[in-house]
Amino acid sequence: MNTVEKYNQYVNTSMVAAVQPVVFDRAKGALVYDEAGQRYIDCFAGIAVTAAGHSNTDIIEAAKVQLDKYVHCCSYVYYSKPVADLAEKLAQITPGRLKKTFFANSGAEAIEGGMRMAKTYTKKHEFIALQASFHGRSYATLSVTGNMGRKTRGGPYMVGCSFAPPPYCYRCPFNLEPETCGMRCAEYIEDIIKFDTYDDVAAFIAEPVMGEGGIIAPPEAYFKKVKEVLDRHDILLFVDEVQSGFCRTGKMFAIEHYGVEPDIMAMAKGIASGFPLSAFIARDEIADVFRPGEHLTTFGGNAVSCAASLANINFLEQERIAEKVTEKGRFLLERLGRMKARYPIIGDVRGKGLMVGIELVKDKIKTPAVEETKTLRKSCLEKGLLVGVGGVWANVLRIQPPLVITEEELDEALAIIERSLKKL
Ligand SMILES: Cc1ncc(COP(=O)(O)O)c(C=O)c1O
Repeated sequence: MNTVEKYNQYVNTSMVAAVQPVVFDRAKGALVYDEAGQRYIDCFAGIAVTAAGHSNTDIIEAAKVQLDKYVHCCSYVYYSKPVADLAEKLAQITPGRLKKTFFANSGAEAIEGGMRMAKTYTKKHEFIALQASFHGRSYATLSVTGNMGRKTRGGPYMVGCSFAPPPYCYRCPFNLEPETCGMRCAEYIEDIIKFDTYDDVAAFIAEPVMGEGGIIAPPEAYFKKVKEVLDRHDILLFVDEVQSGFCRTGKMFAIEHYGVEPDIMAMAKGIASGFPLSAFIARDEIADVFRPGEHLTTFGGNAVSCAASLANINFLEQERIAEKVTEKGRFLLERLGRMKARYPIIGDVRGKGLMVGIELVKDKIKTPAVEETKTLRKSCLEKGLLVGVGGVWANVLRIQPPLVITEEELDEALAIIERSLKKL
């Protein structure tokens, strides 16, 4: 049996409509090759993971050095140098007073742990999240995920979760214009607190740039307004940087675009460019709230993943990847903006850095072009380009390549998208 046949027989894929028909053989930078030797430009990076590029030499080297020493010790039972070094580095690169890290394995696990910490610290029990958000597939993280499509047949969920309207300017929940709206969606959190909660909210949890919801970057003033509301009610700001962190948006962390200091931050995906690792970080007095036995994970802070992560962050810093991502993102948005003028099916082009979405619509009333988005993705793949799909209606093409993608590769990717658009 070949790989696809074995998948069909033995891998549970019932939760995905289809596995993309590419059998990975090797990958380097932003290029992927399948078993038949076919080359693809990767504009999805394994869902925004391989930030420093596939098979980054520095990261592989660091991982190999650690592999030769030891793989696992359980980093909460014994001391592990890569864990200590990485935690110190995260304290340096994360905003404000964020300082102490707990390491876990997946984005969901980091969010779930951070939620527990928020409740324990505040002695409060409710959460407010955003409509159209995504925070993971575990019980608590699905409870704060604002998307029915992800939650169907999994309920009932945790009590005490309320949802605020998203800062989704293209489909403003209040039908307002960004220039004159006065950040109604942020102010509305005050109403949510007043009408939907029992005044027991531990944290407001949000992605600084929403990923799965369709690459939604809130307007510049959004988080400052949100923070004003939260401060009035002693509610923590819990930022989910799982997808937007590690230079993806042109800053080390996307919340830096908004000039507010989070109380808790979760990260994963780009943290180690493909090695499984996640984390949540908080300032001392919040992080220190757990008592012995209240939290742990066996694999969290794996020595090889932490060594890889440190090399990953050093690479991002030394190569000035954040600045380069800003430039590449500008180039990408400018080119896609011109494409939007030529193809009416493109309703909106948006994003920050190399976290970019193309929302496809059927008409002037913005009917989501769902089938067309599927076709576009398929057509791109046939022409050698890997892209993602997201959005509440699955009508947003996602461009989230390894951050080391070259301008020539982006150019080639854009040409493929345009050729595929022509065929729709
Ligand atoms: C913003 C955000 N939070 C959490 C998660 C969950 O991460 P994981 O799939 O590693 O559990 C994701 C995954 O896509 C995400 O995009």
